[in-house]
Amino acid sequence: MNGEKPPLGIFGAGWVGLVTGACFAALGHDVVVRDVVTKRIDDLNAGRLPFHEPGLAELIERNQDRLTFTLDVSELKTGTDIFFACVDTPPTPSGDADLTYVWSVIDDLGDPGHATLVMKSTVPVGTGEKIRATLDQRGLEGVAYVSNPEFLSEGRAVEDFMAPDRIVIGALEEGAGDRVAALYEGFDAPVVRTSIASAEMIKLAANAFLATRISFINEIANVSEAVGANVDDVAYGMGLDKRIGTKYLNPGIGYGGSCFPKDVSFLKLLAGNSGYHFQLVSAVIEVNDLQKRRVVTKLQQRLGDLRGKRIALLGLAFKPNTDDMREAPSLVLAARLQAEGAEVHAWDPLVTGHPDLDGVAIAPSLLDAVRDADAAVIVTEWAELRDLASTEVRESMRTPLIVDGRNLLDPEAVRAAGFQYEGIGRA
Ligand SMILES: NC(=O)c1ccc[n+]([C@@H]2O[C@H](COP(=O)([O-])OP(=O)(O)OC[C@H]3O[C@@H](n4cnc5c(N)ncnc54)[C@H](O)[C@@H]3O)[C@@H](O)[C@H]2O)c1
Repeated sequence: MNGEKPPLGIFGAGWVGLVTGACFAALGHDVVVRDVVTKRIDDLNAGRLPFHEPGLAELIERNQDRLTFTLDVSELKTGTDIFFACVDTPPTPSGDADLTYVWSVIDDLGDPGHATLVMKSTVPVGTGEKIRATLDQRGLEGVAYVSNPEFLSEGRAVEDFMAPDRIVIGALEEGAGDRVAALYEGFDAPVVRTSIASAEMIKLAANAFLATRISFINEIANVSEAVGANVDDVAYGMGLDKRIGTKYLNPGIGYGGSCFPKDVSFLKLLAGNSGYHFQLVSAVIEVNDLQKRRVVTKLQQRLGDLRGKRIALLGLAFKPNTDDMREAPSLVLAARLQAEGAEVHAWDPLVTGHPDLDGVAIAPSLLDAVRDADAAVIVTEWAELRDLASTEVRESMRTPLIVDGRNLLDPEAVRAAGFQYEGIGRA
């Protein structure tokens, strides 16, 4: 035991597990992080982070004395009685949550005696209740179950974990909730204590709401294009209303990533499976799917038939400051362009390949990607792309056309630099 700080065991060395582990270690806890993927644990033990996340490698290194990475579940179980489940909950082909890994945690945990299991993975409402029932059936009444959803955002995960907007704790027994709340003592954030079902719903509803804002502003952008308004001005003017706020009102080519698409789908299907047709969320998903394709239409309007045209996709990761490609809009865009017969070249500062980018030429540099291109499409708003409208880029392109899928650039400056420019919802 390390002073007042109880040791912790973490299932899953992914974004959530590693950030949770490293942050609690930084707060003085001894932490064992266990994963089932040998390469992941070998990398971590060799001082290599299995993915890119700003500040995380340094945090792990600074706190290495309090962090252990292992494949061995018994090492995880030794010396602690608080376990965090931070395993992946991917969608099944039907769009529901695949809880295989969550259940594998329950199996791997075995009988830990008197303990607390804290769920950080995003799960459909009702999962906690099912887990509770299973624990009871197995005679594990001594294992308290607490829902503590995680709200971190990749690219700023450490910051988000250390300075959350709120901490949500859903528990059946007050004592178990208190135990988890105590881990966050000293955090400057309100602690929301609820039932397990409400905690599970807060996470799904929060992500669905943010996705709704994105689809909403994307539709406003599309209508603005049709009627001659400028969505940037519209979003700014809307966002200054304190009831609305400016965040998540950036028009673009749609959301992606490991969370929004699946969490919105989980909520839609959770409602559907309970007999309720969640129309708004269904529309949010459809708008997002179509938004990714609008760039192809814009390219066709400018270039005509795309067969044989060379298109440079700039940015592949689903957002900047990460190398995460889960549900990245770039994958849909690349596939659509290839289906139209275009020759797709791509560049990203971190992503150098992906199994779903078959046939896409990944360029070693931005300049290589745009060479002889008929159009350059900004897919991810990397800071490196802010200077895209340079003489060097213009002279190396076949057609100096920039389609700005993230409204990253100043249209006037780009046009003044001799490019054709097309943004999203910018009159
Ligand atoms: N990534 C995010 O930004 C984010 C933010 C908030 C919430 N979440 C949620 O948190 C959960 C984890 O997401 P992630 O992005 O960290 O996933 P991830 O895929 O990066 O990591 C999950 C890890 O769990 C491991 N694992 C699976 N079964 C295991 C077991 N029995 N024991 C130990 N390890 C096991 C996997 O091998 C993998 O390395 C998901 O439910 C996700 O929706 C993610």
